[in-house]
Amino acid sequence: MRTYLVTGGAGFIGSNYIHYMFEKYGDEIRIINVDALTYAGNLENLRDIEKRPGYSFIRADICDKDAIERIFADNDIDRVVHFAAESHVDRSIRDPEIFVRTNVLGTAVMLNAAKASWELPDGGYREGKRFLHVSTDEVYGSLGETGYFYETTPYSPHSPYSASKAGSDMLVKAYMDTYRFPANITNCSNNYGPYQFPEKLIPLMINNALSGKPLPVYGEGKNVRDWLYVRDHAKAIDLVMEKGRLFETYNIGGHNEKQNIEIVNIIIETLREMLPDTDPRRAHINSSLITYVKDRKGHDLRYAIAPDKIKNEIGWEPETMFKDGIRLTIQWYFEHEDWMKNVTSGDYQKYYEEMYL
Ligand code: NAD
Ligand code: TYD
Repeated sequence: MRTYLVTGGAGFIGSNYIHYMFEKYGDEIRIINVDALTYAGNLENLRDIEKRPGYSFIRADICDKDAIERIFADNDIDRVVHFAAESHVDRSIRDPEIFVRTNVLGTAVMLNAAKASWELPDGGYREGKRFLHVSTDEVYGSLGETGYFYETTPYSPHSPYSASKAGSDMLVKAYMDTYRFPANITNCSNNYGPYQFPEKLIPLMINNALSGKPLPVYGEGKNVRDWLYVRDHAKAIDLVMEKGRLFETYNIGGHNEKQNIEIVNIIIETLREMLPDTDPRRAHINSSLITYVKDRKGHDLRYAIAPDKIKNEIGWEPETMFKDGIRLTIQWYFEHEDWMKNVTSGDYQKYYEEMYL
């Protein structure tokens, strides 16, 4: 039985990945979820599987060397899937230091602990051990109107978030080059889907529209992101782990570029289609809610991935069309109003007021 150590499994993509893995492999795998439970980590995301055999949760900070080494000492870990990070660009602009700590130092601690636990006296590694570092396309910087990011595109991060992720990627590359450490890096485009914290564009717009609040679009709303349904990302990570060539980077993207304003309009239209005529919220959901606000500092214009390498080598392609994925996402938020209420109380209110009001 393979044992996975998943960091950041209580966050958005990590929790979707854990669900996906148990659906795919059932009792054939064990997953140890290591998460510090920051504002972005929520054990509610795993409520339905928390008692299942094969799953366990350890609350720990990835920067805590002793705690991480103990986890490796107590368990024979086969696979590390490293999601834990500070993940929001706007927060990184306001407070960069925590991004450097978690994303760079935390990754160094994870790499070092895995290496120490897996290495053999001859400098090789125990059979079948693999580390997958989950990263972002934002490390490549910003595109103009045309072109794509490839695995060979030089790194040119602009925000403190993307700079810290680039730093973490470089550390993984250094471990592979220096120690032949068995790892892969995946650089993925923007994700959307269930369990996404409403500081990010899509859940923020869904939540605001349902509450009749303004929909804050930065600048002119013309920035482009390449949106991927989170379950497709989870599947890609699993395939890279199983079929990817060691030491390689794989870009993962949705083939789904949209301007932010298009996304906001699609959300408005889809909410109106999906809410019954009798629902009182329907009346106020229309384009008059759109409010153009001050642009993000250093706002990257466009991200777009050409996922040719992962398609050609591994056979992965995005499966969920945006029109379907957005309906699945909105339906999930309809069915999880309490989840949204819980995560938007307390600290979120303070963040929202400082950021938007
Ligand atoms: P998220 O913010 O929803 O979740 C991050 C998780 O990490 C949370 O559960 C949090 O509690 C945990 N965490 C934070 N600091 C920690 C620490 N010091 N120790 C242990 N746990 C800690 O993020 P997400 O959107 O799920 O992103 C997951 C990963 O995927 C990140 O590495 C991110 O850079 C990458 N990524 C995200 C996207 C996206 O669109 N969201 C796209 C590409 C790549
Ligand atoms: P976001 O979801 O924060 O992801 P990222 O910045 O990592 O791509 O933002 C996606 C896009 O939406 C980005 O161009 C910024 C824009 N945006 C808004 O216009 N308004 C908002 O309130 C937010 C959160 C984002």
